[in-house]
Amino acid sequence: MGRAHSNAWRQAPRFFDLHADVRMKTICGRDRRYVRAAAKKLGWETSAIDWRDVIADPEIDIIDICTPNDSHAEIAIAAAQSGKAVLCEKPLARDVSEAVQMVAAVKRAHVPNMVCHNYRRVPAIALAREMIERGELGDRIYHFRARYAQDWIADSNFPVVWRLQSRVAGSGALGDLGAHIVDLARFIVGEITEVSAVTDTFVKRRRGARVDVDDAASVIGRFSNGAMLNLEATRFAHGRKNQLSFEINGSRGSLVFDLEKMNRLRFYSADDPQRTRGFREIIATEASHPYIARWWPPGHLLGYEHTFVHTVADFVSAIVARKRIRPDFADGLRNQRVLDAIQRSAKTERWIQVQR
Ligand SMILES: NC(=O)c1ccc[n+]([C@@H]2O[C@H](COP(=O)([O-])OP(=O)(O)OC[C@H]3O[C@@H](n4cnc5c(N)ncnc54)[C@H](O)[C@@H]3O)[C@@H](O)[C@H]2O)c1
Repeated sequence: MGRAHSNAWRQAPRFFDLHADVRMKTICGRDRRYVRAAAKKLGWETSAIDWRDVIADPEIDIIDICTPNDSHAEIAIAAAQSGKAVLCEKPLARDVSEAVQMVAAVKRAHVPNMVCHNYRRVPAIALAREMIERGELGDRIYHFRARYAQDWIADSNFPVVWRLQSRVAGSGALGDLGAHIVDLARFIVGEITEVSAVTDTFVKRRRGARVDVDDAASVIGRFSNGAMLNLEATRFAHGRKNQLSFEINGSRGSLVFDLEKMNRLRFYSADDPQRTRGFREIIATEASHPYIARWWPPGHLLGYEHTFVHTVADFVSAIVARKRIRPDFADGLRNQRVLDAIQRSAKTERWIQVQR
């Protein structure tokens, strides 16, 4: 993520009118030699090996946290206490109690705060939300069904890395991949009120070391507006490298998205003339589509990295305009409460209400 975010900080002021002078001051890592090389390559003025030095620097206004999950809370709270704006990678925290403390810290300090759920800023996904807000799927949403699937640990010889240790990651596929589709569910449809889930750890030991996070999670649930929820997050779907897909069914139509074809949105409208009714493919690259006017002419496609550019551009614009930006830490906490309910449901084999 360090590279994805560095690219975003570099590109955002070149494509968006930010009304701010963005300077890429300091990149922080753990190894002096490597972080120096990273600063040079990625375009940062200086480098540091202790994040406390970055927070103590009076020239720095924004702290962007791209470290593993176990340091999000400590860094974000310290940054807020120093009056800095904070952009934090997802999942916001390892658990609800850390997220509660992070929300309290940014509220107390009145600092701008945002969670990097970059998929909200895929133009086709932002368009899907606009279409639902405008009632283009009808006045009721019946289903939100999403899947986020990868396969990088499907090989049981793959070693235990930080993402497979609950002490560092909090949870497994759930907090890593599930957090993104929970965020999209909340962004597109609304609040999730209750869940029933199963999780599993298919490979419990790797090269002798214990895996103590979930490998996959399947969830059904309900939204406060009456819609039904289906989610699946897995790292055990051979051939699925980074497949984030969803289908939404409303009273007058349906929408389908697949990140592997991320410039496209498939739309079925029950209001189309019957003879020619069917799924149509919208290529979300028109100037009238979210974010696109800043980029290329219609049909000149965008990619993964643009979602981070949009995140950074919106964050800086909100700071300048002194406006709330979403998803903020309060959204991150809400997301964490859903993840917590999913974990508790899987453990107790019961339906769990999401804490408000
Ligand atoms: N938005 C997304 O789609 C997305 C994608 C991947 C990862 N992430 C999130 O981004 C975060 C980082 O993931 P990653 O894949 O880049 O991990 P990574 O392991 O590849 O990189 C983590 C980096 O943090 C550095 N680091 C660790 N502890 C540090 C410390 N105390 N001080 C300074 N630097 C430290 C490491 O040196 C390393 O460079 C995680 O929270 C992850 O969930 C989000």
